[in-house]
Amino acid sequence: MATSLHQRQQQQKPLADAHHVSPNYFSYGFHQRTASLFGRSGLLVLLALMVLLGVLIPWIGPMDSLFSFSSSASLSRWRDYTLHQAAAFVGRNGTIIVCAVSQPYLPFLQNWLISISRQKHQDQVLVIAEDYATLYEVNNKWPGHAVLVPPAPDAQTAHKFGSQGFFNFTSRRPQHLLHLLDLGYRVMYNDVDMVWLADPFPYLEGHHDVYFTDDMAAVKPLNHPHSLPPPGKKGRTYICSCMIFLRPTDGAKVVMKKWIEELQLQPWSKKTKSNDQPAFNWALNKTAGQVDLYLLPQAAFPSGGLYFKNETWVSETKGKHVIIHNNYITGFEKKITRFRHFGLWFVDDCSHESPLGRI
Ligand SMILES: *[C@@H]1O[C@H](CO)[C@@H](O)[C@H](O)[C@H]1NC(C)=O
Ligand SMILES: *[C@@H]1O[C@H](CO)[C@@H](O)[C@H](O)[C@H]1NC(C)=O
Ligand SMILES: *[C@@H]1O[C@H](CO)[C@@H](O)[C@H](O)[C@H]1NC(C)=O
Ligand SMILES: *[C@@H]1O[C@H](CO)[C@@H](O)[C@H](O)[C@H]1NC(C)=O
Repeated sequence: MATSLHQRQQQQKPLADAHHVSPNYFSYGFHQRTASLFGRSGLLVLLALMVLLGVLIPWIGPMDSLFSFSSSASLSRWRDYTLHQAAAFVGRNGTIIVCAVSQPYLPFLQNWLISISRQKHQDQVLVIAEDYATLYEVNNKWPGHAVLVPPAPDAQTAHKFGSQGFFNFTSRRPQHLLHLLDLGYRVMYNDVDMVWLADPFPYLEGHHDVYFTDDMAAVKPLNHPHSLPPPGKKGRTYICSCMIFLRPTDGAKVVMKKWIEELQLQPWSKKTKSNDQPAFNWALNKTAGQVDLYLLPQAAFPSGGLYFKNETWVSETKGKHVIIHNNYITGFEKKITRFRHFGLWFVDDCSHESPLGRI
């Protein structure tokens, strides 16, 4: 109760700030060039018009491109948009649905967004853009829903699974999540190679600190326990870092801090070609005693190794699936082909359902 009141207050201020700064988004160069063309009152009218546009443009996305002078203004607007402002904008309900995306992943972002729109949760989505192209593209079509936390990683290398660039890119995630928790929001993190078939929020029952899914493909009984599973062959668990729900509690923050620490302890090497998932599992292992962890039901949140590979299981658990993860496969094309094959690629026919429209 106390925390939710606290959140609401935090959220109003940045929203108000965002409106106050909007007139500044217009460049002074334009102001000076036009000053000589108009008299004093003409200039006032012009300024009023600019201020009006500054307020309206964010809400009329496509119009933006009609005003060429405004586009550089909107570029600088989004370049300076902070995680704090973005969180206040999308997190009005106290919950933020977060993903982190670089440009090659835009089709997956689109697919994921369509599936979220069908559950009517798109307003809560915050896209953490990992490059400026993604930041501008998303915000031009859907103002306020993308933010870039500088510095932007090297775009060339950031998206190659198993590469050091990919590792560097994913290792920033826990920092973003921790920042959002510190701002007081509940956070739902998703990889964008996921699809929502139902609303996951009713499954986030109780008041645990951290909710997650198992990345194993082996079938479990429907009534499996919700505690952290026992470690597997490598001495650690195989919890997926692909979908995590966090409450803004001390426990959740402890896990994020441990995750950041583990990533620094076991940096990327050519030999292991690791991603951020082992570090997340070690963080869970080492904090398990002090944090309230909750393993989500497998039937609702199956790994790709189960959902896409075991038809028998899929038909046995029909109607119970909530979020599907297209993992246990690498490569953009292979993932898209597989999504298509299973009727989970909505981009071709349903892009009008996305808040981004056609991309
Ligand atoms: C806002 O949050 C409350 C409490 O978590 C939830 O019951 C409600 O459905 C949410 N509303 C929207 C639009 O998501
Ligand atoms: C990844 O991060 C490390 C340490 O910050 C840095 O030395 C390296 O150049 C980065 N590599 C890539 C490909 O981004
Ligand atoms: C943590 O990992 C160690 C080493 O594999 C294991 O012995 C221990 O049971 C794990 N702890 C938890 C809580 O999973
Ligand atoms: C596939 O699912 C069925 C039904 O749940 C299960 O009995 C079987 O062991 C699974 N197959 C594999 C290879 O895991």
